[in-house]
Amino acid sequence: MKRDFIDTKTYTQAEIQYLIDLGLQIKHDIKAGNYPQLLSNRTLGMLFEESSTRTRVSFETAMTQLGGHAQYLAPGQIHLGSSESESLGDTAIVLSRLVDILMARVATHKTIETIANAATVPVLNGMTDYNHPTQEIGDIITMAEHLPAGKKLSDCKVVFVGDATQVCVSLMFVATKMGMQFVQFGPKGYHIKPETLAIGQKNAELSGGSVLITEDAEEAMKDADFVYTDVWYGLYESPLSYDERMAIFYPKYQVNDQLMAKAAPHAKFMHCLPANRGEEVTDSVLDSKASVAWDEAENRLTAMRALLVYLMAPTMNYSTETLDHLNDETLKALLINRVDSTK
Ligand code: CP
Repeated sequence: MKRDFIDTKTYTQAEIQYLIDLGLQIKHDIKAGNYPQLLSNRTLGMLFEESSTRTRVSFETAMTQLGGHAQYLAPGQIHLGSSESESLGDTAIVLSRLVDILMARVATHKTIETIANAATVPVLNGMTDYNHPTQEIGDIITMAEHLPAGKKLSDCKVVFVGDATQVCVSLMFVATKMGMQFVQFGPKGYHIKPETLAIGQKNAELSGGSVLITEDAEEAMKDADFVYTDVWYGLYESPLSYDERMAIFYPKYQVNDQLMAKAAPHAKFMHCLPANRGEEVTDSVLDSKASVAWDEAENRLTAMRALLVYLMAPTMNYSTETLDHLNDETLKALLINRVDSTK
């Protein structure tokens, strides 16, 4: 049966750890000049209903670096979203005959589910109104790379500052899955919804992590290892004007030097980007030594490589074709001992 990557809810902690290890190993190899050709002759179809810089470029670069190819497919350029529209389901069936794997960034979560249900090849979620799971993998890799001395992921506290965007809930999903303490520090009316919060609470119960929503800055920031924010009120057109956003969030929920000073001295700053400088974060924080936002952007690529290899591995026959050509024993061992909760 094909495996999709729509929601980390269907992935175990061991699989997320595997994706971290695989991503970091491939990153290490590529930095050393070795490009493991793990996706040779494979094609990724990329459907974008919404704009993107990091997600689009990292998927396409990952395919090129690993020996494959990516095709950018936008409404208006294919028979989707035009006046003579082909249905989404039919489009997914046809694309499954033409490419090896699909990703889609779509406006509503229902749309990605429709694509995944109709497609016969693996489908990755490049962000919906509900979640942003490829961002989750890039973020957890970034935290794993920037752990405070002597700490594991499960010893760390991550605080999301702002409203319950899809990035906020995704951060909760992955942090609680990995046993971390997750806090949302945001204003009333903009908290994570109870039914979504329940998923984080369930994860935390299983992993030994925790979830807290608070409007108290001291409680939120105390001993925080990672401080994370996102644009106020969603990634695209905000239903709020600049003045309305500022009235709700500013100055209390802006990540500035005063707020960072309440976190642990070693705390790192994270942002999924793009940022509205001067709104949710100041230049002094985003451009500071504590900021790992640029590493985080680079790790979108680290995550995409791992996810593409992970989902394509069952069709790649690595044991005979590719493994013999790999110099890296760690990567070879990771591919041979692939963790898969469905096995
Ligand atoms: N963080 C993120 O998803 O960026 P893009 O919208 O540029 O893909």
